[in-house]
Amino acid sequence: MTAADLLARRRSIRAFRPDPVPADVLDRLLAAAQEAPSWSNTQPYRLGLAHGALRDRLADELTAAFDRGSVDLAPEIPLPLSYPPELQRRRQATGYGLYETLGIARQDHAARHAQMRRNFTFFDAPVVLFLFAHEALGQYAALDAGVFLQSLMLAAVDEGLGTCAEGALAMYPGPIRRCFDVPEGYKLLCGLSLGYPADDRVNGFRPARKAPDELLLPVATG
Ligand SMILES: Cc1cc2nc3c(=O)[nH]c(=O)nc-3n(C[C@H](O)[C@H](O)[C@H](O)COP(=O)(O)O)c2cc1C
Repeated sequence: MTAADLLARRRSIRAFRPDPVPADVLDRLLAAAQEAPSWSNTQPYRLGLAHGALRDRLADELTAAFDRGSVDLAPEIPLPLSYPPELQRRRQATGYGLYETLGIARQDHAARHAQMRRNFTFFDAPVVLFLFAHEALGQYAALDAGVFLQSLMLAAVDEGLGTCAEGALAMYPGPIRRCFDVPEGYKLLCGLSLGYPADDRVNGFRPARKAPDELLLPVATG
């Protein structure tokens, strides 16, 4: 596959088959993603990897935290409190598009809540990763971690796997920190569900991208 094929085929997968991901496939994926560039090659990120019993424990504990609500909410990197109109418009269109694909009515709060809850069982993915970035590099560490994340997601496509980056998992760091020895200075950025995509309509959702003229800045006059 060309880079363009990989980029076009990668889509967020929100329904996975239970089939485990073989260890050698995981090793290949991580080795491929390690080719990612970073600020002065500092590679300011660490990964927690969970499958099997550890994955199940995390799914139980994160779902319990979600069910308790705001009590356990403690993101290490502040979540946006509001969105400027330009961003909110796209965010809302994507949310509505996802619910429409799932056949969930906008006013059906119970079904929307149930769908949100599926984030915490990793959409049934057999593998979940947690991405931490070093606070010393500030936003540049997050930038590097993002480049690494996309590298991992594209390498996964090449192996016939699917992924879903999950900012939702960074809402409840407690259970995750109890499962991994995280060195000082590393902050939880997001999770990544990984596995073989299920044949499910939700995986056909293709949210629109902005038009080229919305991407490229006009050249300033005067
Ligand atoms: C950093 C990051 C965090 C995300 N968090 C979530 C999440 O918590 N739950 C979810 O269902 N999708 C999440 N997504 C997926 C986005 O909604 C998705 O990338 C976007 O709608 C574009 O769709 P596509 O990935 O299928 O191209 C996240 C994506 C990124 C890059």
